[in-house]
Amino acid sequence: MNIFVLTGAGVSAESGLGVFRGQGAALWKLYDPMQLATPEAFALDPRLVHEFYNARRRNLIAASPNAAHVALARLEAGLAQRGGALTVVTQNIDDLHERAGSTSVIHMHGELLKARCASCGAVSDCRDDLAVDSRCGCAGALRPHVVWFGETPLFMDEIYAALEAADLFVAIGTSGAVYPAAGFVRTARAMGLRCCELNLEPSDNADEFDDRRYGPASEIVPSWVEEILAL
Ligand code: OAD
Repeated sequence: MNIFVLTGAGVSAESGLGVFRGQGAALWKLYDPMQLATPEAFALDPRLVHEFYNARRRNLIAASPNAAHVALARLEAGLAQRGGALTVVTQNIDDLHERAGSTSVIHMHGELLKARCASCGAVSDCRDDLAVDSRCGCAGALRPHVVWFGETPLFMDEIYAALEAADLFVAIGTSGAVYPAAGFVRTARAMGLRCCELNLEPSDNADEFDDRRYGPASEIVPSWVEEILAL
């Protein structure tokens, strides 16, 4: 079996990284995304944008994968043993899937532990704070290697190829509020795939899913993985 999993902030919530929307504390209730997560915001006040992502990078470095990340790594290994494959497409800019052992992860919204040169486009590892005077070897200014509102997500061709190769579509910990990721379930349905949602609460597009399970990712993802591996 080939499984396509789309993950969002909810899969990392119990690792302490925060979500953007939903019940309780959420980043976009505390902050205005238009002042922090757009190219225009970076052009207007790069120091403010760097401070926001620097704080998130420090949190990420101190965080650990939770049981949901671990279960997805176990699913990848289990499917591979059976001649199948798991592709994790994540909207998350953290590296917790990789740290849990997943090897097939597509970061469609970029990666917090990388920086990109605004001039030459070179991408480099980045574990330290970025500042307005952080420079690439070509002298161009460095920015976080993340996709902001108004920018095109990464690896879309690879993502649609993985969807075409899949037998099952699963969305985990995502509110279904941000496109194009929120539209993957509709594409998957049009391809005849069965679709499953695992989330704390019904997402904006919950009606599109055949199977829905609600609860903390650290509980519902491991139990769903056990079911799949027992098939
Ligand atoms: P959201 O914050 O929009 O949604 C997170 C979802 O996870 C919500 O539906 C929550 O109910 C759910 N959730 C919270 N805690 C959970 C838990 N412990 N277990 C399971 N689910 C839980 O996050 P995304 O859908 O990933 O983009 O957001 C999509 C994009 O919007 C992000 O990549 C980011 C944001 O703006 C950019 O910054 C460009």
